[in-house]
Amino acid sequence: MSAAIDASPEVTILARGVTKTYGSGAVAYQALRGVDFEARAGEFVMLNGPSGSGKTTLLSILGCVLTPTSGEVQLFGETISGRKESALPRLRLAYIGFIFQGHNLIASLDARDNVALPMRMRGYGVREANREAERLLERVGLSDKIDRQSKELSGGQRQRVAIARALAGSPPIVLADEPTASLDAETGATVTNLLKELAREAGHTVVVVTHDNRIFHLADRIVHIEDGHIVDHPV
Ligand SMILES: Nc1ncnc2c1ncn2[C@@H]1O[C@H](COP(=O)(O)OP(=O)(O)O)[C@@H](O)[C@H]1O
Ligand SMILES: [Mg+2]
Repeated sequence: MSAAIDASPEVTILARGVTKTYGSGAVAYQALRGVDFEARAGEFVMLNGPSGSGKTTLLSILGCVLTPTSGEVQLFGETISGRKESALPRLRLAYIGFIFQGHNLIASLDARDNVALPMRMRGYGVREANREAERLLERVGLSDKIDRQSKELSGGQRQRVAIARALAGSPPIVLADEPTASLDAETGATVTNLLKELAREAGHTVVVVTHDNRIFHLADRIVHIEDGHIVDHPV
């Protein structure tokens, strides 16, 4: 097919032969054993696999939190593998919104400040960051909780704040590590739907790590990982 009629969205995440070994010598453990992965703009991909299969490790490498031991990773055509750890914060700021396992909000900050913080780090002024934080908190249904400290919020509400924070400043890639693990089925589905809707509007690439089969139906594509390998047909 010629490039001119290929209307596929841009490949935003590309991983080839990625390995990750933790530790060295007798205690070395190879958590990723040659992973190929790609995702495109606007795609909502789920990464599924048993506990210990390497999901968090892969997401952390794609999210510029960890460096791979070998292999190549590109974000928007920029090679990020082989870089020093000191290069990672700039790459994270440029490309990544991260929803961590257990949300990682700052307990003593109110919802607005939790969401505004990454925008301030991206160079937005206070007023603009606050305005955008309030807009996003309204979108996730928390307009009445803007001034609440995160420790005063329920699990589902915190996860909504974490989504707003990951989308703040519109990073083109949004990564979420088991975002529904601590939520009941209904709240989990609502929160995942919300992430999907907001991300789609903005054309973000979203990768959600999960083994929550209650949300699989929301994925555009499900990628399975076992023992550090991507597998076509999970058992
Ligand atoms: N910092 C670390 N040091 C040593 N081993 C680790 C470290 N992080 C993860 N591992 C090991 O790597 C494997 C994959 O872990 P992880 O990516 O967290 O899997 P998952 O998210 O699928 O549960 C597991 O066997 C885990 O024990
Ligand atoms: Mg994990």
